[in-house]
Amino acid sequence: MNWEQACRLLRFGRSEGIPRSKDGLAAPSPSRDLLGVARAASVCVASGKGGTGKSVMTASLASKFSAVGRSLILDADMGIGNAHILQGVSPERSFVELVAGTAGPREIVSRCSATLDLIAAGSGVSNMAELSTFELHRIAEAVEQLETEYQYMLVDSAAGISNQTVTFAAAADVVLVVTTPAVTAMTDAYAFLKVLYRCRPDSAPLLVVNRAHHEDEAHSVAQRIEKVCGRFLDRHPRWIGWVPTDDAVIESVNARTSVVEHNPNAPAARALDHIASVVLDELGSLRARGLGRSLMSRVVRTSKLA
Ligand SMILES: Nc1ncnc2c1ncn2[C@@H]1O[C@H](COP(=O)(O)OP(=O)(O)O)[C@@H](O)[C@H]1O
Ligand SMILES: [Mg+2]
Repeated sequence: MNWEQACRLLRFGRSEGIPRSKDGLAAPSPSRDLLGVARAASVCVASGKGGTGKSVMTASLASKFSAVGRSLILDADMGIGNAHILQGVSPERSFVELVAGTAGPREIVSRCSATLDLIAAGSGVSNMAELSTFELHRIAEAVEQLETEYQYMLVDSAAGISNQTVTFAAAADVVLVVTTPAVTAMTDAYAFLKVLYRCRPDSAPLLVVNRAHHEDEAHSVAQRIEKVCGRFLDRHPRWIGWVPTDDAVIESVNARTSVVEHNPNAPAARALDHIASVVLDELGSLRARGLGRSLMSRVVRTSKLA
């Protein structure tokens, strides 16, 4: 494939092909694996580029998901995560202590509400962005222990296409790729999708355009990404919605909460509400594989190859 050609298409792509998103409401049921064990259904919010709105989106999805079933946010932006800020909590422990072996899985869980918990990423710890196989194994083991206690798990992903970041995405039941209309964000979303498809060929990622000014702009962005993926990867991520640029989002971040809770009638909140419904619907139609279990098998496979 020709990277230059792909980037040119993202910059100047024409309108055709991709269908517009439709309304859809979820009626999810508890998901059991082949052994009859109920494991949390998982979604990973990813993007390639930083600042596209992954954490903003995760916070709003978590608010909606936790109204339906017990949910856990995993902040996978290891060492510099800020998912806890949008929940208004200040966790004393995080993945850092788990990896160091000084705390167990349940000790690193912070309570955000009666039905929503969070595992923080820890901050200011640079080596967390490059975990060893042993450390990733420890995380996988912990997530596997916790996933039978929740109905949903949401991974707030780090930016970039590092092995660690893509491994988390590939292990999730659903991957939500967030882009903005900025060409750099589109290019990075494409790069992320390319690596994700390589890591997990049966992946069926969903695409969301954040910070668009109007639907036509969002539609055109989604079309370009879909077209480039179709041409160079022979794959078609599904566009499920867009979120307008909205000051209510900035206000909610400053209030340390999600926009769907802070200002449910704001345009961005309504859009996120719709996206949450579509993702819930998608999760309800799948058999949850278990994020921890999938992570574990990926980590073990990688260590055998190493
Ligand atoms: N739809 C939006 N409208 C206005 N500002 C937004 C929107 N989405 C995100 N932002 C702004 O972008 C910032 C970065 O978003 P964040 O979710 O932290 O990005 P990421 O997790 O992808 O790095 C937010 O703090 C907020 O100020
Ligand atoms: Mg973030």
